[in-house]
Amino acid sequence: MEIFFLKLANLLFTVNEHDAIALVRHPILLLLPLCHNDRVVIFDRTDFGRSNLSLPKGNCRHDPNDQALKVDCTAHSIEYNVGTNTYRPLTILTDTWCSSGTVNTDGFLIQTGGYNDGDRAVRVLRPCDEEDGKCDWDEINPSLAVRRWYATNQILPDGRAIIIGGRRQFNYEFYPKSDGLSSGPFDLPLLRQTLDREENNIYPFVHLNVDGNLFIFANNRAILFDYTRNLVLRNYPVMPDGDPRNYPSSGSSVLLPLDPSGLEAEVMICGGAPKGSYHSAQVNKTYLEALKTCGRIKITDESPSWSMETMPMARVMGDMVLLPTGQVLIINGAGAGTAGWENGQNPVLSPVIYTPKANVGPRFQILQPSKTPRLYHSSAVLLRDGRILVGGSNPHVGYEFSGVEYPTELSLEAFLPDYMNSEYSKFRPKILSSPSELSHGTKFTLQFALEIMSRRGVWVTMIAPAFSTHSFSMNQRLLLLEISKVSTTEGTVEYEIEVTAPANGFVAPSGYYMVFVVNAGIPSEGIWVHI
Ligand SMILES: *[C@@H]1O[C@H](CO)[C@@H](O)[C@H](O)[C@H]1NC(C)=O
Ligand SMILES: *[C@@H]1O[C@H](CO)[C@@H](O)[C@H](O)[C@H]1NC(C)=O
Repeated sequence: MEIFFLKLANLLFTVNEHDAIALVRHPILLLLPLCHNDRVVIFDRTDFGRSNLSLPKGNCRHDPNDQALKVDCTAHSIEYNVGTNTYRPLTILTDTWCSSGTVNTDGFLIQTGGYNDGDRAVRVLRPCDEEDGKCDWDEINPSLAVRRWYATNQILPDGRAIIIGGRRQFNYEFYPKSDGLSSGPFDLPLLRQTLDREENNIYPFVHLNVDGNLFIFANNRAILFDYTRNLVLRNYPVMPDGDPRNYPSSGSSVLLPLDPSGLEAEVMICGGAPKGSYHSAQVNKTYLEALKTCGRIKITDESPSWSMETMPMARVMGDMVLLPTGQVLIINGAGAGTAGWENGQNPVLSPVIYTPKANVGPRFQILQPSKTPRLYHSSAVLLRDGRILVGGSNPHVGYEFSGVEYPTELSLEAFLPDYMNSEYSKFRPKILSSPSELSHGTKFTLQFALEIMSRRGVWVTMIAPAFSTHSFSMNQRLLLLEISKVSTTEGTVEYEIEVTAPANGFVAPSGYYMVFVVNAGIPSEGIWVHI
C-alpha cells in the first residue's frame, strides 16, 4: 500500500482551493458515508481484480463465479480516518457494486445489496475507535428479500431502513425485519410506471418528509408515499421539461434546510441528462448536453408546482451537498453525456454554491475550478470540519489508469468552501460545550466562543450523516434549530445559547448528527450529538 500526502497547498491558499489530501493507490469506487467517529467508509467492487491492500488477518475471498479472481486476498472496503489522514482495510467478502446504505439510530453503518453474490447481502459496521481491525463488517447473506442493485435507502423514524427499488425491482422492503411487521417486498407501481427504455429511474431520489411520509422521485416525477399503508397520498406534477433526472440520466436531489417549525419541506433537484442521452452516447458516441435546470417544489403543499431555475452551467452526475451554512454545493460531474461506462464528456470542474434563501438569479455562485475531472462513480461528502471530501472517477471496465480520455481516478481531495478561509477566523464560532445526547422537542444549552458576532446573531444547524453514491446522498438532512436565549459573560468572548432540539422523529429521525454554530455565514467546526 502506498499513500502520497500531497502537501496542503500553501497556507495562503486562495478561497475555494481544492486541497489534495491523500492519494489512495488502490482501486476504489466511492460510496462515502461519514460515521460519527469521523471515519469515512469507502467501497470498491470485488470483481475487478486485486486491490493494493491485503485483507485483515490473512483473510481471502473464495468465489468460483468471480469474473476476475477465484481467490482474492485483498480488501475492497476501507475506513478512512479523517483526523489522522490514514486508512485501514475492512473485510467485505461480497460485491457491493452499486449498493446503498444508511447510518442507523445507533450509528451503525447498514449497507445493503450490490451485485452478483452481494445483491441480497446486508453488511453492518459498528464504528469504533480501535485501529487494530477489531471493528469490521458483519455480513448477513442472504438477508434481503430480493436483489437490490441501484436501490435507495432512507432511515425511518422507527429506526428501520427502507430499501426502495433497484434494477428491475418495482418494490421496497425494510431492514431490519421486525417482529410482527412484515418486511416486504411490497409493490411500488411508481417504479414500473416511470421505467423507460433507458431505465432512467433507478437510484430513485427519496426524502423523508416532515409529516413522516416519503417523497419518492423516479425519472421525471414524484409521489408522496405512506409506506405504513402502501398508499400514494399525492402525485406531484411531472417536472416541467419532462426530462429524466435519475440514473443513468443522473441529476441530484436534496431536501432543502428544514425550518424549526417542522411544518414545511422543500426539495430541489438539479441537472441530469435529456431523454435519449444514454442511447445516444452508447450507440452513436454522441454526447448530448446535460440539463441546465433545477426544479424546486414544496412537498408539504397540497397542490404544489415546480419552480424552475437555471444553473450557471449544465451538469450531469453532479453531487449536491448541504453545507453547515444551509447552502447547497453542487460539485463533480460532466457537461455532456450520462452516467455509465464511457458515457460522460466535458468534465465540469467548477463547483457552484446555491443559497436557497437568496433572490432568484444571484443565488447561484460559481466557484474556482478544481484540476481533477470527477465523472462516473465520483462522490462527495461533508466532513465535520466543514470541508467536503471528494473522490473517485471513471472506474471504466476493470480500471484504466492511462491511455483513455478520462482515466480512473483514485485520489481523494478536500474541497474548501469560502467559509474555511482564515481571514474569517474572527467570525468563526468555536463550540465549547454541548450535551452529547439530545431529546426531541426539548431545550439544551450550547456554549461557544466568538470574537465578533454578526448583528443578526448566530444560527444553529444540525446535519445527518449521508451515504453518498451515484450523485445522490441518501439520508442527507439539515435542520435549522430555534434559539431562544443568548447570554454572554461581560468581558469575555464566551456565549451561552438555549436551543430547541428538533420536535420529533419525523423531522429528525433518532441518530447521530453534526451540530454547527453559524455566524455571518461562517460555521464553527461541528460536534457530534445523538438524539
Ligand atoms: C501494492 O503495491 C506495492 C507497490 O507497487 C507492492 O509492492 C505491493 O505488493 C502491493 N500490495 C498488494 C497487496 O497488492
Ligand atoms: C443515432 O444516429 C442516427 C443517425 O443520425 C439516428 O437516426 C438515431 O436515432 C441515433 N440513435 C440514438 C440512440 O441516438
